[in-house]
Amino acid sequence: MTARFHNPVDTRFGWGSLQELAAITEHQNVAVVTFPEARDLGLVDRLQALLGERLVYVIEDVQPNPDVAQLRATYERFWQEAGDCHAVIAVGGGSAIDTAKALIVGTESGRFDELLALLASGKPFVPVRSKQLIAAPTTAGTGSEVTPWATIWDAANHKKYSLHLDCTWPKVAIIDPQLMLTVPASVTVSTGLDALSHALESIWNINANPLSDTFAISAIEDILECLPLLRRDLSSQELRSRMALAALKAGMAFSNTKTALAHSISYEMTLHYGLPHGIACSFTLPLVLGLAWGHDATRDKTLQRVFGPDLDKAQARLRAFLHSLDVKTEFADYGVTAEEAQVMIDFALQGARGKNFIGSRAA
Ligand SMILES: NC(=O)c1ccc[n+]([C@@H]2O[C@H](COP(=O)([O-])OP(=O)(O)OC[C@H]3O[C@@H](n4cnc5c(N)ncnc54)[C@H](O)[C@@H]3O)[C@@H](O)[C@H]2O)c1
Repeated sequence: MTARFHNPVDTRFGWGSLQELAAITEHQNVAVVTFPEARDLGLVDRLQALLGERLVYVIEDVQPNPDVAQLRATYERFWQEAGDCHAVIAVGGGSAIDTAKALIVGTESGRFDELLALLASGKPFVPVRSKQLIAAPTTAGTGSEVTPWATIWDAANHKKYSLHLDCTWPKVAIIDPQLMLTVPASVTVSTGLDALSHALESIWNINANPLSDTFAISAIEDILECLPLLRRDLSSQELRSRMALAALKAGMAFSNTKTALAHSISYEMTLHYGLPHGIACSFTLPLVLGLAWGHDATRDKTLQRVFGPDLDKAQARLRAFLHSLDVKTEFADYGVTAEEAQVMIDFALQGARGKNFIGSRAA
């Protein structure tokens, strides 16, 4: 079978690489989307200095897990007040990048509900207008800077929408580990585990191939070694750089495979139990590893390259790794009974991401 790998994002990686924003945006008017702490951290001033008069609009109140409740007003204000800017620069975690992905997709009416209706229809559409997206992640986790997907949450109605269009691939990604130095320990762990989940989910995936595997294996090895060290030494330039690169590699892997069962379960855990994304999509990894093992010889071989030939030992290693980061690994730890967990897993297997899981055909 021919393996194919496609990722159109102009990707730049390195300590201090945010500096390149100035050259990348020459002769453009830009809007910045960033997280609430960015101003106090001096990041908004830094962006202002880098971009000068090109910076015409700043959105800095992005909340974790972009939700329709807040996005509606932000979206409509953006198109009214900055509708003529050329590009949107997201400088933040996955929440800022996914918010920016929603903002750049223009509707005829300028109304957000028109976009939601298009997403709810589930049918492909070409937006009437759009803007270029430049993404500079400040967390090492989501990989959203090298993927076209955005998750838009509607917590009040226990729903989520997935946005995915040609224009939601970022034009440029700038991965500057220096931006991650201020990420607190808990977010460093949860985002790092999100990246681990991306890499594993790209392996036990019906869309996997040797090219995505190459990124995934390398990401997993780095994260297993590096994340516990980084948690104890948050100001290490070397460890921040390694985790940033690992998250980028994991992002590259799943940019071509999409995610699978652990993510499908995570949506339920976030909507119904309020778990942060990185924990929600990683606490089941030992369980899902067990469900994946034995379905496909090539996939087994890839998993065994990381974990060795023994499934029990592989699961035990993954469990011990998560416990060492104070992440509990059983549904019961989060108040979910065994029966509720089984219902959730069965439901997750039927979801779009669940169907990517190699075990879903046998379920
Ligand atoms: N599009 C994709 O491919 C993709 C993949 C995975 C997750 N996601 C989405 O990403 C979101 C989660 O993103 P996340 O895990 O990066 O967290 P986040 O963006 O929600 O950030 C977590 C917290 O850290 C703060 N923060 C971010 N950067 C910081 C920094 N440098 N210093 C100090 N504080 C900082 C934020 O303000 C926030 O309070 C979810 O909405 C999830 O659905 C998207």
